[in-house]
Amino acid sequence: MVATAKAEDGAALFKKCAACHVVKKDAASGAAPNLWGILNRPLAAQADFAAKYSDALKAKGGEWTYENLAAFIHQPKGYIAGTKMAFAGVKDPAEVANIIAYLRSLADSPAPLPN
Ligand code: HEC
Repeated sequence: MVATAKAEDGAALFKKCAACHVVKKDAASGAAPNLWGILNRPLAAQADFAAKYSDALKAKGGEWTYENLAAFIHQPKGYIAGTKMAFAGVKDPAEVANIIAYLRSLADSPAPLPN
């Protein structure tokens, strides 16, 4: 889905996320962790947010992939019970894919597209 998704549409959809998240290289995190280079980044790895992550997110482990990022954006509390992300989630899978395509573009070297 991400392969055919539209990063431009994702940019518009990201406005809901931008209430809490910045996604800019070297920018300070605010109420939520900076999402620059989030794909393939370990979970809960934004250094200046380290003290604020929930135990639930820290305990989950692993890296953000297309799959688990989609699951989390679709239903944050369904994917990680106890997350501090106070956001209901994005229902439409096509919108989730567009948001991920947008986030993918915001990295030092964008992750390869999934097969
Ligand atoms: C109301 C504020 C808020 C909104 C809106 C929000 N988030 Fe979050 N987000 C957070 C907080 C707080 C955390 C840290 C969660 C924790 O520690 O459990 C987080 C964590 C994350 C993480 C994990 C980051 C990491 O370093 O592991 C991702 C990915 C993420 N959010 C993506 C999104 C996306 C995409 C959207 C929009 C569709 C969004 N968020 C909307 C507050 C928000």
